[in-house]
Amino acid sequence: MEKREQLYEGKAKKVYKTDDPGLYIVSYKDDATAFDGKKKGTIADKGVVNNTMSNILFALMEEKGVPTHFVKQLSDRETLVKAVTILPLEVIVRNVAAGHFSQRYGVDEGTPLLRPALEFSYKRDDLGDPLMNDDHALALGLATEGELAQVKKYAAKVNEAMKGFFLDKGLKLIDFKIEFGKLDDGTIVLADEISPDTCRLWDVETNEKMDKDRFRRDLGNVEETYREVLDRVRA
Ligand code: TMP
Repeated sequence: MEKREQLYEGKAKKVYKTDDPGLYIVSYKDDATAFDGKKKGTIADKGVVNNTMSNILFALMEEKGVPTHFVKQLSDRETLVKAVTILPLEVIVRNVAAGHFSQRYGVDEGTPLLRPALEFSYKRDDLGDPLMNDDHALALGLATEGELAQVKKYAAKVNEAMKGFFLDKGLKLIDFKIEFGKLDDGTIVLADEISPDTCRLWDVETNEKMDKDRFRRDLGNVEETYREVLDRVRA
């Protein structure tokens, strides 16, 4: 598959057209940002880890009945995906209080939630990705009611499948962020990535943070941790 012009460059990935209008190539970078791009750095080989890990998880989601944009991994950093238009909503699912949830509601990090909590935020770095409810998304025309219902159903399935998958690898899935895209025919599919950038994963035994919080909070061993998570996911 020929890589054609670059369509888009995000903070962690580039997207290229191909000679097939229905297919794009995603290329994962080592660039790391936090706090809406205010903190910048590099995590060596993050692109390789995130590409490989995302594809393993996308394949698992397909098995569980959640359609995804994944077609085929082309190399360490590049993957062929279905061309989608990304819904401008970050879909966050939380099992345990952490991060912004802990700050916003005054709950200690690590407090288990009585049930998984789903939230949306508006994918707008310039506004700090503000928290948003269904009515806001509908009022702004970001998605339809049917699309939101589909997204919530898929997000719950992704959570259940990933919780079990990671627990087998000695990792607790604290929370995660996913994004969905729309194919030309309107079908909603899971897209973007699933990686230590977009999940909070804590070691089951030690509660050690095994995700991007090591970069966000300057906890050290960032590269080693990304590599360790990939090794566990592959095992
Ligand atoms: P939060 O507690 O900072 O809102 O993060 C919730 C989850 O979403 C966490 O697993 C990290 C992930 N996340 C992203 O993938 N991108 C982002 O821009 C932010 C803020 C969080």
